[in-house]
Amino acid sequence: MKIMSGNSNLPLARAVAAYLELPLTDASVRRFADEEIFVEIHENVRGEDVFVVQPTSYPANDNLMELLICIDALRRASARRITAVVPYFGYARQDRKPGPRTPISAKLVANLMTEAGADRVLSVDLHAGQIQGFFDIPTDNLFAAPVMAADIQARYGEESLMVVSPDVGGVVRARALAKRLDNAPLAIVDKRRDRPGQSEVMNIIGDVKGRACILIDDIIDSGGTLCNAAQALMDQGAASVTAYITHGVLSGAAVSRVNNSALKELVITDSIQATEAAQQSDRIRILTIAPLLGEAIRRIADESSVSSLFD
Ligand code: R5P
Repeated sequence: MKIMSGNSNLPLARAVAAYLELPLTDASVRRFADEEIFVEIHENVRGEDVFVVQPTSYPANDNLMELLICIDALRRASARRITAVVPYFGYARQDRKPGPRTPISAKLVANLMTEAGADRVLSVDLHAGQIQGFFDIPTDNLFAAPVMAADIQARYGEESLMVVSPDVGGVVRARALAKRLDNAPLAIVDKRRDRPGQSEVMNIIGDVKGRACILIDDIIDSGGTLCNAAQALMDQGAASVTAYITHGVLSGAAVSRVNNSALKELVITDSIQATEAAQQSDRIRILTIAPLLGEAIRRIADESSVSSLFD
């Protein structure tokens, strides 16, 4: 088995390799003067089971292209099996046609990875479970929930918890976390905009008064969804609001929005390499999913059960 990394999240790839007690495969991913990407693998991979760690986070197009070129290089070097380890799957939010004459870019990306030569895909908290079906190759979708639940139990286990979904679409994810927290009660933020241009109204379904609220979502991008939800929960009398989000996309002014929000703490994972601003924020904490990924990779290589990781 070999672990190779692109440039998107080297610290995570190193941590995964350390978990597996393997060195990272000796390879270089360089740029030509015109920004074309060039990959060179400096060791033999013929007949190997190779895992390429490369979340397709910002800059999404560069990181995606780097992943595709790494896969192509491995295929041409006769690797036996190539698994694209994409902890954060960029373009996942474009998983359906929002209107006429629009693309389904998540499907296009899935086609690109398969066409490049990936034999398997390993991802974490895909924005929508059905993205697995965009691939005609085996695709494992890991959940960060066990890592989050352990942290919540350790930090907030003594408090009167309430798990909150920031929108109706996230209820399944929130319910799964609540189950892991001794069936904690559930609340839902129902966002409504009656007419375009009208400001959003947030209705909270559930009584959050006096509760330590745990907001859960897959992505924080601009931070708007989360910070507004946190404020609405505090307005309804919540004791505190903490957010657990798998993928800290944190674009633009998101970090300062979080720093100035009603959130007690934002906890993200290292599926995406955190920016300097995120690392320096005393409101943001990062949990590692390296052991989760490492264990899943070990099981894929051993051909043992991955789903039992979540029993
Ligand atoms: C949406 O369906 C996702 O689950 C997130 O809620 C969304 O991407 C967060 O975006 P933002 O932080 O920009 O509000």
